[in-house]
Amino acid sequence: MFRTRRLRKTEGIRRLVRETKLSVDDFIYPLFIEEGENIETEIVSMPGIKRFSLDTISKELDEVVSLNIPAVLLFGIPSEKDDEGTETWNDNGIMQQAIRFIKKNYPSLYVITDVCFCEYTSHGHCGIIHDNDVDNDATLVNIAKQVISHAKAGVDMVAPSGMMDGTIDMIRQSLDNSGYPNLPIMAYSVKYASAFYGPFRDAADSAPTFGDRRTYQMDPSNRDEGMSEAAFDDQEGADILMVKPALSYLDIIRDLKNNFDRPIACYNVSGEYAMVKAAAEKGWIDGEKVMMESLLSMKRAGADIIITYFAKEAARLLLKQ
Ligand code: PBG
Repeated sequence: MFRTRRLRKTEGIRRLVRETKLSVDDFIYPLFIEEGENIETEIVSMPGIKRFSLDTISKELDEVVSLNIPAVLLFGIPSEKDDEGTETWNDNGIMQQAIRFIKKNYPSLYVITDVCFCEYTSHGHCGIIHDNDVDNDATLVNIAKQVISHAKAGVDMVAPSGMMDGTIDMIRQSLDNSGYPNLPIMAYSVKYASAFYGPFRDAADSAPTFGDRRTYQMDPSNRDEGMSEAAFDDQEGADILMVKPALSYLDIIRDLKNNFDRPIACYNVSGEYAMVKAAAEKGWIDGEKVMMESLLSMKRAGADIIITYFAKEAARLLLKQ
């Protein structure tokens, strides 16, 4: 008889044959940074996650660094919004200030910026609106301005999340022509129009005021299309390819891992975090175990990098092991 249970008998042998291991090196921790002073607002649907202003964020950054988390992903929440999101390329905007602040005070921390418009536009869409829809090519021009402004502030990597066609090509060329040929791009390549972003839109104040994002984000029904999205970004020069959300899209993570030789990232999004937190709070699941199992599944599916609100908690557990 085949006895597969022989290698499951004790923790010692289980450790030896374990195929996938999580590490703090896998994590990127998202941060919400709001323009203003003295802000430390708990996000109700994301227990443990807060919006900070720059004068209150140091203890959060101290913790991230002391847990040895390698990188943060910044989201800016500006005090002023307009039709185009012009604040995104203000060299003194909240994102630019945050980049300078972190790079000055925490030089070892790798700083990535989410490049988008939805937190900065009065209508909450990820670009310029013409005829009730986002105008792809007009938006690309503004993406270039935003990225150059982040680059000037000293960002380590940019992560465009708006799902406009031609984004990576536009960003790569702009960076190269402006003296930033070594600044890498992590592309939100396969990003679905997902209901799992709900809590984030409260956190970042970025829900669209009309319509939805289905004319630019992907249809959750589609798998092959994910491969072509990733292929375009790969050809256009993306350094890292991302799948988002993560848990309901593990098949897509594996597709990318099998077909591209670039590092693959996934985004364990706000709704995934909220579900675990809510069920754990009710005592219906063991929150820590479900968290670790979920993160492990993403890695097993093929993610080299996991962007997760659980980064601090998971790092704490991994340090104890
Ligand atoms: C901005 C952006 C979103 C998320 C990351 N970048 C929201 C959206 O597309 O509506 C979602 C992250 C999360 O849910 O944790 N475009």
